[in-house]
Amino acid sequence: MALRIEQTHDFDAVGAVHRSAFGGEHGSTVVQLVDALRRDDPAALSLVSEEADDVVGHIMFSRALLDAPRQLVMVQSLSPLAVAPRWQRQGIGSDLIRAGLQQLDERGVPLVFLEGDPGYYSRLGFSPAVEHGFRKPSLRIPDVAFQVVRLSAYEPWMAGTFVYSNTFWQFDCVGLREVTHDEVGVSSGTE
Ligand SMILES: CC(C)(COP(=O)(O)OP(=O)(O)OC[C@H]1O[C@@H](n2cnc3c(N)ncnc32)[C@H](O)[C@@H]1OP(=O)(O)O)[C@@H](O)C(=O)NCCC(=O)NCCS
Repeated sequence: MALRIEQTHDFDAVGAVHRSAFGGEHGSTVVQLVDALRRDDPAALSLVSEEADDVVGHIMFSRALLDAPRQLVMVQSLSPLAVAPRWQRQGIGSDLIRAGLQQLDERGVPLVFLEGDPGYYSRLGFSPAVEHGFRKPSLRIPDVAFQVVRLSAYEPWMAGTFVYSNTFWQFDCVGLREVTHDEVGVSSGTE
């Protein structure tokens, strides 16, 4: 298993990982989000995990802001993360997160935010951001899903609202949207 910075020749393989991991329309949206993040944030940290020359996992960290009372703080957003289904539960996702956080720490990034399952991310140092004085960028993000990790450059005055880059809004990749009955195939229950 090798872990390295994504290269341009990986783009198709990375897209395939996201399509297979997320599936359906959401998979396609994530592929578009990744393309846009590469374009909009050339300094984004994009790592791939390789097995026998095949890309099997991908993680991306890109710029975001924290609107703190004293000043805007450059922070990072962890999204997306995916491991191809047949390679899941072998520690690949965890390794990608750990490697990314280490590189961001070395770059002096103070805070990394994400939306995700606390059952997974709490093992990797993330905790509920609301408990540390941070505010969600959308009411559609459940409190428990809004998570943060504080790195070496973090200072206690760094509190406030997390602000996604425009790219996440452009692709409507913030929070959860309501699922209509039609979409999940739920009947009215009266027939
Ligand atoms: C989430 C994901 C990246 C994890 O990658 P992975 O390489 O399988 O993860 P790891 O091997 O490091 O960790 C596996 C452990 O995490 C758990 N886990 C995986 N996804 C989880 C989730 N959504 N919630 C809680 N636990 C989760 C597994 O149960 C496993 O625990 P166990 O070994 O105790 O059974 C991968 O499952 C995936 O690509 N999922 C689809 C895309 C996705 O949801 N991405 C994250 C949101 S951006």
